[in-house]
Amino acid sequence: MRKVKWAVDYLSNSSHLIESPETLKGQWKEFLQCDTLHVEIGCGKGNYSLFMSMLYPQDGFVALEKNDSACGMAAKKFDEQSQDNHLALIHGDACDLSNWFADNEIDIIHLNFSDPWPKKRYAKRRLSNEKFLAQYKNLLSKDGQIQMKTDNASLFEYSILEFLNNGFVLVDFSVDYRRDEHKEDVLTEYEEKFVEKGQPIYRCVWKKKYEDNTK
Ligand SMILES: C[S@@+](CC[C@H](N)C(=O)[O-])C[C@H]1O[C@@H](n2cnc3c(N)ncnc32)[C@H](O)[C@@H]1O
Repeated sequence: MRKVKWAVDYLSNSSHLIESPETLKGQWKEFLQCDTLHVEIGCGKGNYSLFMSMLYPQDGFVALEKNDSACGMAAKKFDEQSQDNHLALIHGDACDLSNWFADNEIDIIHLNFSDPWPKKRYAKRRLSNEKFLAQYKNLLSKDGQIQMKTDNASLFEYSILEFLNNGFVLVDFSVDYRRDEHKEDVLTEYEEKFVEKGQPIYRCVWKKKYEDNTK
């Protein structure tokens, strides 16, 4: 994404941006006044978390984005369109999730149209790589879920094997998710474009394996 100067400048003024997320480690539910905590990793310009937080006003949403410009645009959108205090934004890299969230703290992790990193030598950067999955497993609550959507068949295939080989159980699965109506799940910016073009959306939902639930 090209640098958007106003968005980068905007970040420091945002009321939804959490500047020191490590200070909320273990206390996100109290802070966002919710029983169910969602974390969207790689939120882009923020539509998904914003509109999901409107659809589920009882739940708490934390959107995470590492790109300065995209994060600034999400911040402005949150400030302008969301009056509630159940939505927060972190500007940072998913590698640091364990510094910001405690074990068992997150109920739903959303991976929406994550960068596919097609070259094998960059596989470790994929957000469904085993290194990330090990982190998510610790942070997820006992019955917590990871919900993943993508347009990319290769990333989908890769991810399914990573989840299966790293202690997750498949809960739900589709190779054409938007064939049916899903009013309970809003479209992301990328998803809107793919749906408009008639491309299928792949989706899978995972839980921790039973023996891992005892953690
Ligand atoms: C392809 S875009 C999808 C954006 C949005 N989720 C959507 O569906 O419209 C992927 C986003 O994930 C972000 N991202 C990739 N790796 C990340 C990481 N390790 N930590 C935080 N954000 C990341 C990128 O900066 C980019 O904005």
